[in-house]
Amino acid sequence: MNINKLLSSMTLEEKIGQMIQLPPRNFIIDSDTDVIGNEYDLGLDLDQIYTTGSILGIGSATEMKEIQTKYLESSRLKIPLIFMADIVHGYETIFPIPLALSCSWNEKLAFDTARISAVEAATSGIHVTFAPMADLSRDPRWGRVLEGFGEDTYLLSRFTESMVKGFQQNDVSLKGNIASCVKHFVGYGAPIAGRDYNTVDMSKLSLYQDYIGGYKSAIEAGAKLVMSSFNTFDGIPVTVNENLMVEVLREKLGFEGVTITDFDGLNQVIAHRVAENQREAAVLGVKAKIDIEMASTCYIDNIVQLISDQRISIKEIDEAVMRILRLKSQLGLFSNPFSFANEEDEKLLVRSSNHLENAKEIASECAVLLKNEKQILPLKEGLKIALIGPFATETKTNGAWSWRGNNYKNVTLFEALTTNGYNVDIIDYLNEQIEDQLSKVDVVICALGEHQDDSGEAKSKVNLELPDRQVKWIDFAKKSNKKVITVLYNGRPLVLNNIDNSDAILEAWFLGSKTNETIVDILTGKINPSGKLTMSFPRHVGQIPVYYNQLTTGRPRLDQSNPYTSFYLDCGNTPKYSFGFGLSYSNFIYGNILINKKYMTKKDTIQVSIDVKNTSSIGGYEIVQLYIRDEVSIIARPEKELKRYKKIWIDPNITETIQFTLSVKDLYYKNPKDESKIESGVFTILIGPNSTNLHSTKINFQ
Ligand code: NOJ
Repeated sequence: MNINKLLSSMTLEEKIGQMIQLPPRNFIIDSDTDVIGNEYDLGLDLDQIYTTGSILGIGSATEMKEIQTKYLESSRLKIPLIFMADIVHGYETIFPIPLALSCSWNEKLAFDTARISAVEAATSGIHVTFAPMADLSRDPRWGRVLEGFGEDTYLLSRFTESMVKGFQQNDVSLKGNIASCVKHFVGYGAPIAGRDYNTVDMSKLSLYQDYIGGYKSAIEAGAKLVMSSFNTFDGIPVTVNENLMVEVLREKLGFEGVTITDFDGLNQVIAHRVAENQREAAVLGVKAKIDIEMASTCYIDNIVQLISDQRISIKEIDEAVMRILRLKSQLGLFSNPFSFANEEDEKLLVRSSNHLENAKEIASECAVLLKNEKQILPLKEGLKIALIGPFATETKTNGAWSWRGNNYKNVTLFEALTTNGYNVDIIDYLNEQIEDQLSKVDVVICALGEHQDDSGEAKSKVNLELPDRQVKWIDFAKKSNKKVITVLYNGRPLVLNNIDNSDAILEAWFLGSKTNETIVDILTGKINPSGKLTMSFPRHVGQIPVYYNQLTTGRPRLDQSNPYTSFYLDCGNTPKYSFGFGLSYSNFIYGNILINKKYMTKKDTIQVSIDVKNTSSIGGYEIVQLYIRDEVSIIARPEKELKRYKKIWIDPNITETIQFTLSVKDLYYKNPKDESKIESGVFTILIGPNSTNLHSTKINFQ
C-alpha cells in the first residue's frame, strides 16, 4: 500500500478519524472486553464511527473479525482498524506481576513472558499491547508499582528492553508478534504522596538520571508506540507538554512512532485547568504531536474548525496521520486486515499446557524468601500443617491487570499442598476450637496479604500494614508454640513489622496462573528460592520514599551520638528489607574481590571479579550485584548505583568466580541538561548479594 497516495485521497474528516481510539462497544454492544476507565457515550454519529482508526480492547477473534468486517464494509476508504489492549503480564496464561518478574533479575524471562503473551493475544486479533510500563517508582503507596520493574533504572531498563523485544521480535507484521506501546511517558511513577494521577514535581536531574531510562531503553529496543501519562510535569499535563512530548521524546530520544494519550487523557487537560474546553485541549494536543486520542473527542469534534481558524495546520494533521498509517502498514494490516485472529489458534494456543508450564518455570524465579529462621524451610515431608488466612483457599492470585486471566481456573494453596501429599487442616477464622486444632499440627502456614484488586490503577493506600485481623493468627499460633511460615500475596512492598513473629516469610507476590503450585514447590524445597527484591520494603510509611540509591546528604548519620544528622527520631533510616535482598536455601559466601588494574582511562575497560562459594549441600541460583560509587563529582552522586548483575547457578561446595567488565560508560552520570559527565578521580566498586552487604575495591579514573 502506498500510504502517501492513501493520505492524499483522504478527506480531512477521514484523517481526523484516524486520530481517535474507541472502546469496542461503539461497534458491538455486548463486547466481552473489560475496558479500564470511565466509559461513556462519546456522542459520535455513524459516519464518524466509520472513520475511526483504532479500538481499545477486544474479547476474542470472533469479536475482532466482526468489528473489522463491519468497519471495512461501511467505511469509504477501508483503512483497517488497529486493535490495542492491555496485555500486561499475560493474555490468558498469566505470568507473575511485573514487579515480581523483576525480582528474578533475569530479563530473559521478561522476553519469554512477552513472547507467549504476544502469541496468545495475536490469536484474538490484538495488534498492540499497552506494555511494558517503564515507570520507575519508589513509592509503594502508589498502587501501580505492581506493573513496573522496581526502583532502579538500570534493572528496569533491561527489563523494558527485553519485554519490547519479546512482543515485537523485529517485525510486527509476522504471526505471533504484536507491537509494544511503552507507557506512561513520563514521571507517572512519582505522584506526590503516592496518590494515583497526582501532580509530579520532579527536577530535570531526576528525570534524566532516574526516570527516563526505562522509556529510553524501550524506544531503543524499537517500541512502536508511546503513551503519554496523566500527570502534570512542571505544571503542564504531560499529554500536552510540548517540551516533553516533542523536544524530549521526539527530538532527544528520536522517537518516530505513534503517540497515544492515556484513557480520556486529552479531555482531562480541562480538569487540570490548563485548557478551557475541548477545542483548546485539541490545539495543545496537536502541538504536542499527540497522534491518537484515547476515548475522548477533543480532536474529532474540533479539528476541522481549528484548521479553518488557522489555529493548527493541515501539515500537523498529515504528519500525525502518516505516523498512524505507517504503523498500520508495518503491522501488515493493509494486506491482512484480520491479521492472525483465528478461533482454531485461540483454542490451540491460548492457555495451552505448554504455556502454563512456562508460566510455572518463570514464576519459580520470582518469589523472594525474606526470612527463614533456623531453616524451618524447606518443609520436611509428612508434616501436619495448619493453614490459615484469606489466601488459604483463594483462587484470585493472578494479580491485577489480567482481565483474561480466569482466576477461577487457579489452584488454591490448600489444593496445591494436599496434591503434594501434605496433611492440611484449614483453620477457620471464626472457629472457637482453634487451640485444639493447633495442638494437633506440626507447623502453621499463614497465607496473608492484600486482595489482588488492592493494587493497580487508582489503588493508592496510606496504610501498608497487614490488618490486625490477619496478623493475630501469627501471634496466636506462636502463643501455642507453633512454628509459623507466612506466605504473602501482594502487589506492592508492605510494612511488615507486625509479622516479625513469623519464623519464615515468603514474599510470593501474585505469580499468575501457577501461583500456588509454585509456592508449594518452594515451601517443600523442589524449588530453591532465588528472587531478590527490586523495591525496598519500608519500616514505616513515613520513610517513603526510601530507596537504596539515595544521596548521602551533608550530614549523614555516621555518628549515632550526633543529634544534628539526617535521621528520624522515631525510626531508622534504612528500609526493613532492602533492594537486592533475598534468601536462598543455599548459603553463599563472598570473598576475594579482584580488579585487573587500578587506573582507568576513557579507552580502557576493567575486569572485576569476586569468588562466591556455595557452602551448603543444596545447589542454587545466586544473583551477584555490582554497584559503583563516584567518590567526588560536581553533582552529588548516590551512595551506590547498580551497574551490573549476574544470576548464576552454583552447585554445593563449589566456588564460582564471577567476572564483570566495566567501561567508562558505566562511570558517566547525567546533569540536568541530560549531558553525560565524568571527572577524574576515585570510584568505588562494590559487589555482593544485595545492596547493603558489599565487598569493595577502588579504581582511579584519569
Ligand atoms: C488507563 C491506564 O492508565 C493505562 O495504563 C491503560 O493502558 C489504559 N487505561 C487503557 O486501558
